[in-house]
Amino acid sequence: MDAREMKVKAAEAALAHVEDGMRLGIGTGSTAEEFVRLLAEKVHGGLRIQGVPTSERTARLCVELGVPLKSLDEMPELDLTVDGADELDANLTLIKGGGGALLREKIVASTSARVLVIADESKLVTTLGAFPLPIEVNPFGHKATCIAIEKAASRLGLSGALTLRQSGEDVFMTDGGHYIFDASFGRIPDAEALSGELNSIPGVVEHGLFIHMASLAIIAGEAGARTLRRNN
Ligand code: A5P
Repeated sequence: MDAREMKVKAAEAALAHVEDGMRLGIGTGSTAEEFVRLLAEKVHGGLRIQGVPTSERTARLCVELGVPLKSLDEMPELDLTVDGADELDANLTLIKGGGGALLREKIVASTSARVLVIADESKLVTTLGAFPLPIEVNPFGHKATCIAIEKAASRLGLSGALTLRQSGEDVFMTDGGHYIFDASFGRIPDAEALSGELNSIPGVVEHGLFIHMASLAIIAGEAGARTLRRNN
């Protein structure tokens, strides 16, 4: 099974959690896009759902495939969000934002009664941090914010390059008009402590650590799809 087939397997298993009439948060990334494709087939078969997309990219795909959408302001409470992850550990702490949608993903996840992560098994790690942590920052004073992040990380014994994300020749701009630093800390042994430090920096808009948000993960591998639950 190649990586795409595993993503499809995880997305298929996630569909079993979608019920008629649900208000759905719809994630961003290649795994979430497989979910959107399968969801669209169900919608054409008569399933009634309303979706809130976590990015302009996901919104475009939903419109193209005929998945009904509302804005989060029209539908501010959701039953279930299905989204991918860049990394997750066994207790469902996530790194997200590889696709640049972490702010809207976190807002949508926070309004959802349940958050279901879909991923192939390469995303499941013992300790988070091999995937550089995306940190969304306000463009104003972003160099000062970068220094503040480095100092905050160093208080926790973390170091590593902070790379301003590019899109071709230009600085990458999120849907919200912000920049992203990708922080190569290598290992993040205490995600809660790092989250607290980052949240206290004024120029940081949001970061890609999702803690106590996902309740369930479907991990697809060669042997099929298995489900992980958060312990606390
Ligand atoms: C988007 O900003 C991310 O949080 C994605 O959910 C994450 O990058 C997973 O993407 P893939 O499914 O493409 O790996």
